[in-house]
Amino acid sequence: MPAQRVIAIYPGSFDPPTNGHLDLIERGSKIFDLLVVAILQNPEKNPLFTIQERVEMLRDVTQHCSNVEVETFNGLLVDYAVRRQARVILRGIRAISDYEYEMQMALMNRKLDPNLETVFMMPAVAYTFLSSRLVREVCQLGGDIRSLVPPAVEERLRAKVV
Ligand code: PNS
Repeated sequence: MPAQRVIAIYPGSFDPPTNGHLDLIERGSKIFDLLVVAILQNPEKNPLFTIQERVEMLRDVTQHCSNVEVETFNGLLVDYAVRRQARVILRGIRAISDYEYEMQMALMNRKLDPNLETVFMMPAVAYTFLSSRLVREVCQLGGDIRSLVPPAVEERLRAKVV
């Protein structure tokens, strides 16, 4: 019997995508047949980048990963995963402090859809302190973000904060 293709969703806000996100996408793309990076359209949040800008940035920085797609979604993640025929939700865990929130989400998603499995991966140790929120803050205050985000993202961030 031929093995079933495993499709994974990597959901998030990606405001903006960081080197930590890219590290996880690259790791995930080596394991899953198709990895769908799914940006949440959340009208309640006040993002720095529009959803279209985030799509463009993520498509740009994942060009080298042939089995990675970038999309947006709204509503429940589990419903979107079913629409995409995904069996896995991929999330990154950087430190113990991420664990509680991630565990709550994973267990709630399992309750909503027991067929979906959440898989956690750790980014490279160099990115364990990295978050989109801190990158935005450092950039807004004039700090050096070159080693924190891909060059295409840095350019857009600089343009946003001038
Ligand atoms: O990058 P983030 O902001 O930590 O990502 C959070 C995200 C998008 C994964 C989460 O908010 C989500 O899945 N939202 C979709 C709505 C949903 O399904 N909520 C129930 C999750 S248990």
